[in-house]
Amino acid sequence: MVDVVDARTVRLAELKELWLGFIRELAAADTWWREGARLDRDAEQFLLQALERPNTLFLVARVQDKTAGYTLAERRRVTGVFQAADYVHISDLYVKEEFRRRGVAHKLLAEVENWTRGQGLTVMELNVLRDNPARQLYRRLGFHDHRLTLIRRLD
Ligand SMILES: CC(C)(COP(=O)(O)OP(=O)(O)OC[C@H]1O[C@@H](n2cnc3c(N)ncnc32)[C@H](O)[C@@H]1OP(=O)(O)O)[C@@H](O)C(=O)NCCC(=O)NCCS
Repeated sequence: MVDVVDARTVRLAELKELWLGFIRELAAADTWWREGARLDRDAEQFLLQALERPNTLFLVARVQDKTAGYTLAERRRVTGVFQAADYVHISDLYVKEEFRRRGVAHKLLAEVENWTRGQGLTVMELNVLRDNPARQLYRRLGFHDHRLTLIRRLD
């Protein structure tokens, strides 16, 4: 049984553990990232800001009262020369290894979808590394490739 709660009801230490888990896993998968020496301090700063930020959905999943994963999403606006349009950008999605493949991410993303629809918005967006198996999860949920980020290494 997966419960989803507002991150503001969760202890900062638990949020920190989740966020650090997410960042470390991304850093291991993507050599472009560097795990920062100040990661511990950055975590607190990042989380406190995220908890305060308006137009932000910060949710934590619990399985049998244990913290299992989280997601962070925010309402954004296309600006500049493009026609203004709001959409929801999902910046973080993470499930602790021991709770994976039990539908926790599905549940979190369903809540993001409800939040998006609840605001009358019709687009959810996220970035994912090319080789991340999470792409299969997103595809199954109806996400499709829209834009490619290309990098060229100069070292
Ligand atoms: C991606 C992640 C959030 C998935 O969480 P989860 O709770 O295990 O996902 P769910 O149980 O809701 O969905 C599982 C489905 O997603 C897909 N999936 C998830 N992980 C997969 C993997 N490693 N290999 C293949 N398919 C995978 C499958 O379709 C799977 O369905 P199945 O179990 O019936 O085969 C989790 O693996 C994670 O935190 N990974 C590290 C952080 C990360 O990469 N986040 C995404 C950044 S864009």
